Amino acid sequence: MDDKKHIQSVAPSSRPKKYPQNKALLNKNNLEKALQIKGLKIELKESLKGGFISQVYSAVLDGTHVVVKHTSGSIPFDPTEMYLDKKSHDVDCQVLRNLQGNYKIRVPKLLYDFPDITTSVMENLYYQGFELMQNQIFDKNFSIEAAKSVGTMIGNLTIESRTWKKFPAVQTAVMSIYERGLELRQSYPNSQKEYLALEKKYIENNKFWSWPDCHPKNIFVNKKGEVVFIDFGYSQWGDQRFVLPSHLAHIVIYCLTGYINSGPAKEYIEKCVSAYKMVEPIDESIFCQYLAMEVFHRANGKWIDGVDHNEQKLALLKFGFTVFDDKINKINNLLKLINE
Ligand SMILES: Nc1ncnc2c1ncn2[C@@H]1O[C@H](COP(=O)(O)OP(=O)(O)O)[C@@H](O)[C@H]1O
Ligand SMILES: [Mg+2]
Repeated sequence: MDDKKHIQSVAPSSRPKKYPQNKALLNKNNLEKALQIKGLKIELKESLKGGFISQVYSAVLDGTHVVVKHTSGSIPFDPTEMYLDKKSHDVDCQVLRNLQGNYKIRVPKLLYDFPDITTSVMENLYYQGFELMQNQIFDKNFSIEAAKSVGTMIGNLTIESRTWKKFPAVQTAVMSIYERGLELRQSYPNSQKEYLALEKKYIENNKFWSWPDCHPKNIFVNKKGEVVFIDFGYSQWGDQRFVLPSHLAHIVIYCLTGYINSGPAKEYIEKCVSAYKMVEPIDESIFCQYLAMEVFHRANGKWIDGVDHNEQKLALLKFGFTVFDDKINKINNLLKLINE
């Protein structure tokens, strides 16, 4: 066979795009120095999260425990990836500012914002008795205590954000659905009608603000069931109806992969949904499709911990295919798919 004639190279055939340069992340010492030059009496302690697009350190500022979040961006490493702009820092801080002091929606207190070094200083939630929902899940210690608060807070966030003045986001609705819907497209490669229908909905409903990163790694909870949301850098103007199902998709994912038992998982989802419904109606059909799309998105473990083995991946794929193939459009029926 003449390979050159029948096979097209996977290397991009167009000229590589010229992306704006993202400065490399400052290392711990330089970041501490940069903050001291700004006039802060601050000492950086251990890293809470290190990655190639952001670093978060616990720190002590004037004797108080705080966190320092320093953001960079990234150039796509393959054509299915997005360009991530370090200006996500500005989006994150804008949302935090919009919500400071809001008694219905709790976010960390923003103490300082330094846009020139894309760095913010916030209250340290670990010292306020909070822990990450993600850690509870991995410790097999997931508590359904927070379900009602999470549902109510997502509902309130949905409504409150409709009053916000539009600010620039780094992710558009098109980018977001393109990224999160990729695995759904690949699951129905011939017509892609399942994806195209959702893409249309996500893009057309872009009048309001949407936060698709409402996953357990961005939610702090405490023993009293109180909740704090963090990490809004990649929020955008898109379909708000995606926020709740994208959160609950992660409860389904961690149930099907063996971290949460199906009893508590179902109870959490039911409580969260009914709390949200007290604030904002739910279109159950779109809810089921968005949730299954997110399960497909994570089925190979993309940007998520804990999805490692073939049994886990197959369970997630089976769930996604069942929702779309059987046209499941009621939350009650969706919950039947996570029976033991
Ligand atoms: N206000 C905070 N208090 C305590 N820990 C925090 C706070 N903000 C972030 N963190 C820690 O840093 C991690 C990453 O922060 P996040 O804002 O989600 O950044 P990223 O965009 O890199 O996901 C969180 O999962 C949490 O462990
Ligand atoms: Mg995060």
